[in-house]
Amino acid sequence: MPHSPRHLLTLEEFSPKEVLGLLDLAAVVKKSPAKYQKALAGQSLAMIFDKSSARTRISFDVGMYQLGGHALFINGSEIQIGKRESVSDTAKVLSRYVQGIMIRTYAHSIVEELADNSEAPIINGLTDSHHPCQVLADFQTVREEFGKLKGLQLVYVGDGNNMTHSLMIISSKTGVHCKAVCPPGYEPDSRIVQSAQKEGKRNGSRIEVVHEVRGSAKGADVVYTDVWASMGQEAEKEKRAKDFQGYQVTEKLMAECPRAIFLHCLPAHRGEEVSAGVIDGKQSRVWDQAENRLHAQKAVLVTLMGKRGKS
Ligand code: CP
Ligand code: NVA
Repeated sequence: MPHSPRHLLTLEEFSPKEVLGLLDLAAVVKKSPAKYQKALAGQSLAMIFDKSSARTRISFDVGMYQLGGHALFINGSEIQIGKRESVSDTAKVLSRYVQGIMIRTYAHSIVEELADNSEAPIINGLTDSHHPCQVLADFQTVREEFGKLKGLQLVYVGDGNNMTHSLMIISSKTGVHCKAVCPPGYEPDSRIVQSAQKEGKRNGSRIEVVHEVRGSAKGADVVYTDVWASMGQEAEKEKRAKDFQGYQVTEKLMAECPRAIFLHCLPAHRGEEVSAGVIDGKQSRVWDQAENRLHAQKAVLVTLMGKRGKS
């Protein structure tokens, strides 16, 4: 390949210093958007969606526009990646037209195969196992609130899913302690947990999985939750609704940590993983968090597609 670009697949491929650099840039881009108006002039980002989206699609589209570039929405059912055409052929063809490819899909192996074959950076806009763009916005929000990351305690309550994995990875890079509180049988992937624990040891983060909800938020700075059934798990919805009883972020749980903020990647289901009183209450920062998708992703786009992205 004539040009081997940098990709964002899980954040594991970014050093702790680079992750903090992305967050620093996100803060600058948020404060001084005009400085970046031409950062990606004339560049195009292809956005492939095999799953639904509001925030990811809109914030990437608006972000590219604000950087002087252009975003192109591709419905997954039209391009049929891996079916009508192989993943590798799609990567080779698209990267002759566009300077970046963002994809939201099911199997994480698809983004890996795209990255192995693309001359343009691949950005993971969510797979079954990772959601790295979301956690950059999340940690931007946390840093805005507390002015630091190192030493903070994040408690995640719910399904050990793509969000849990990405939160553990970014925590392990930034010195944040991350505790996942999951029902038995719904723990995060042990391979990802172990790898985050190893990285966390180097950076001063404790990464752990527990089952008991009561008392779990004591000492928390951030309480986070996500839906009980993710996209692709619709058939398990009823069983999960039973298995996740009690794994809800309520006012009672938030009372264990009165100074903590509440985050949710959204979309949210009030009365399931979170009570309306919490998500619409004083401790919630979910709207700032959603806004930060735009700024954090602009930082990612400038880093991967701008001059600095060329290796
Ligand atoms: N949080 C998030 O990724 O939202 P969408 O699914 O709406 O993109
Ligand atoms: N875990 C959720 C996150 C949505 C942003 C899902 O994968 O559907």
